[in-house]
Amino acid sequence: MRRNDQAIAFTPLAEHEPGLVLSLLSRSYAPYLALDPQASRAWPADWAAYDQEVFQRPDTVGACGFVTCLSGEPIGFASWDPRGRPTGIIGHNCVLPAFQGHGYGTVQIRRVLDILRRRGFEQVRVTTGDHLFFLPAQRMYASCGFREIERGCRDPRVTLAMIDYLLVLPSNVPDTASAMHD
Ligand SMILES: CC(C)(COP(=O)(O)OP(=O)(O)OC[C@H]1O[C@@H](n2cnc3c(N)ncnc32)[C@H](O)[C@@H]1OP(=O)(O)O)[C@@H](O)C(=O)NCCC(=O)NCCS
Repeated sequence: MRRNDQAIAFTPLAEHEPGLVLSLLSRSYAPYLALDPQASRAWPADWAAYDQEVFQRPDTVGACGFVTCLSGEPIGFASWDPRGRPTGIIGHNCVLPAFQGHGYGTVQIRRVLDILRRRGFEQVRVTTGDHLFFLPAQRMYASCGFREIERGCRDPRVTLAMIDYLLVLPSNVPDTASAMHD
């Protein structure tokens, strides 16, 4: 299956039904949760709380993300946290397993970076897991220009170490997000 850019649409999170974000995360992380009992106890509750916040706070949490649809069907989503301006943080993001490995994850992250750059953010941070399952995420962030700044445990509930990345945003580059389908 090749990536089909013509069929991609980026849709507001809050336009979707409550539960979609939780479902996308649960299905995308299922192989990892099967390996890590600590994460499988801790993370789904976090995702459920985030899913609720998206719909309870559509103008703040719900406005900081999008669902990627392919021919009308949600295949993934990406989000960000703008509260540390001028540093943005990339938040939950995923692509459903059936659609992974075709560039959709990278397209999502590049779109978030374009949005943050256009809104005047100067740098962006993101964190992912230090485990083979997260190799696609590690490669995705590296190919988007992030560089690793630190490794360590971040969540007392989970022993998985995390990798923190930083990207300094260029201020004067062509706007690619506006050229894509909204
Ligand atoms: C991380 C994730 C969003 C990437 O989505 P994706 O659509 O598969 O990403 P892409 O196709 O753009 O590939 C991104 C990179 O991963 C690599 N990759 C993809 N699938 C891979 C696999 N199975 N094994 C190794 N590398 C893989 C790609 O080659 C690419 O690397 P490159 O830029 O060096 O070529 C997706 O794998 C996912 O949802 N994972 C589970 C949740 C997760 O980790 N979310 C990120 C939270 S920090």
